[in-house]
Amino acid sequence: MATRFPEGFLWGGATAANQLEGAYQEGGKGLNLADVLPGGKARLELLSQTGFDFEIDKSKYTYPNHEAIDFYHRYKEDIALFAEMGFKVFRLSIAWSRIFPNGDELEPNEEGLAFYDRVFDELHKHGIEPLVTIAHYETPLHLIKEYGGWRNRKLVSFFERYVRTIFTRYKDKVKYWLTFNEINGATHMPLFGLGFSPESEETRLQDSFQGLHHQFVASAQAVKLGHEIIPESQIGCMLIYAPVYAYDSNPENVMHAKQEADIFNFLSGDVQVRGEYPYFAKRYFKENNIELDIQDGDLETIREGTVDFISFSYYMSRTDKKIKTPEEMGQGNLVGGVKNPFLKASDWGWEIDPIGLRVSLNELYGRYQKPLMIVENGLGAYDKVEEDGSIIDDYRIDYLREHIEQMGEAIEDGVDLIGYTSWGCIDLVSASSGQYSKRYGYIYVDKHDDGTGTLERKRKKSFYWYKDVISSNGENL
Ligand code: BG6
Repeated sequence: MATRFPEGFLWGGATAANQLEGAYQEGGKGLNLADVLPGGKARLELLSQTGFDFEIDKSKYTYPNHEAIDFYHRYKEDIALFAEMGFKVFRLSIAWSRIFPNGDELEPNEEGLAFYDRVFDELHKHGIEPLVTIAHYETPLHLIKEYGGWRNRKLVSFFERYVRTIFTRYKDKVKYWLTFNEINGATHMPLFGLGFSPESEETRLQDSFQGLHHQFVASAQAVKLGHEIIPESQIGCMLIYAPVYAYDSNPENVMHAKQEADIFNFLSGDVQVRGEYPYFAKRYFKENNIELDIQDGDLETIREGTVDFISFSYYMSRTDKKIKTPEEMGQGNLVGGVKNPFLKASDWGWEIDPIGLRVSLNELYGRYQKPLMIVENGLGAYDKVEEDGSIIDDYRIDYLREHIEQMGEAIEDGVDLIGYTSWGCIDLVSASSGQYSKRYGYIYVDKHDDGTGTLERKRKKSFYWYKDVISSNGENL
C-alpha cells in the first residue's frame, strides 16, 4: 500500500494524569496543582489573575479533576479500547504527587509506583508503547505553597529525585519520555507550568524566566540521567508550538512577528535541543529587566543534556501585529495574537489552521534536524448523543483529517516525523476551562459539567474512522 507515513509510525492518543485519573486522594497521592483548580468559568478567570491562594473552596466551586474520568479504576477498559483502535503508542503523564505526595520526601510512595506498573503492564499486554510525560501541569501542592513553585531552585533537586525514582523503576517498561509539558508556555501561564501565581504583572516575567531556567536545568539533568539508567531511552522536550504569521507585509509587523516567534517558539527549543541560550535572548532579557540567577555548572548541564527528539502540541497558529487594539484580538486563542481573517475558529475561539501544522513541522525540522513527534492536536467540541446512542462527530473527523493530510505533506517535504498522538483520545477534563463538555475524544465519557453522569464509555464515529487511519498507516483518511 502506498502511504506517505513511514513504516512503524507511532499512531496513538495523548492524555495527562490530572485530567484523566481522578482518585485524587487514593493510593497515598498528595494534592497537586490541578486539585485546587476550580471547574468552568472560574478557572479561565483564574488563569489571567495574579495572587491565587491555592485553596480548595467547595462551597463556591466544583473540582472536576478530583474524579476526572476515573481512569485510576477503569484503565483496563480504556486501554482495551485504545488497543481496539490499533494504538501503537499512548501518551500519559505520571502524577508526581502519586510518587512523592509532598514532592520533597526522601522515599517514594510504593502504592503510587505500583499503580503505574499496572498501567504500563496493561499497555504492553496490548502491544502499546507508553510515552510518558514526567511533568504535565501537576506540581505537588506542597511545593507550590511551601517553596513558591519553580521559582525556587530547590525544586531542581526534588525533581531529580523524582525522575531518578521513575527511571529506575520503569526502566524495562518505558522507552519514550518527555520532560516538561509545553515548557515554553510557562511565561504565558506560569500557574500551569511553573506552579506559581504571579504577585504582580511587574514580577511575572522575571519570575517566569527564572522558573524556566530551573526547568531547563532540571530537564537537562533528567535527559542525562535517563540515558545513564535506560541506555535505549528516547527523551524529548515538549513545546506548545504556534507558527507566528505577520499580520501584513509591513516590515514593522514582520520584524515583530519574528521576535515573538523567537521568544515564544524558539528560545526553549534552542536551550533544550541545541544546549544553549540563543543569541537573541541577551537583548530580550536586558530590555525586559530580566536578570537570571544562573549558577556554576548550569550552562554545562544544559549543554550536556540535549534531547533526542522534539515533541510539540499544535492547536493553532498565531497572527501577530505590532500595535493592536483589543477589538482585533482573537477570542480564546491561548497563544495570543489578532484574528486571522482567513481562518475559522472552534466553539472556544481557537483558530483552525491545518496548513499551520505543515508550517510548524517545516520550521522545527528546518531549525533543528531532529525527529519530531506531534503529541497533541485535536478539536475541543460539544458532542451530542443521539437517541440510538451514537455520536456522529463528523466535525472532529474533518479537523483531524485535514491536519493529518498536512502531516503527509510535511513528510513529503522531507520532515522526519515519527509519531502522532492526538489530544484527549478519550474525553477528559479540559485544562484551561475545567469543563467536561469541551470534548476531544474518540471515546465518549458520560460525565457532565454539573457533575452528573455514569462515566460509561461509548465509541464515537471518529473511533472507527481513526481505527481505519491507523490500520492503513495514514492512507485512508
Ligand atoms: C494543552 C495541554 O495545552 O492543551 C493539555 O497540554 C490541554 O493539558 C490541551 O488539555 C487542550 O486544552 P484545553 O484547555 O482545551 O483542555
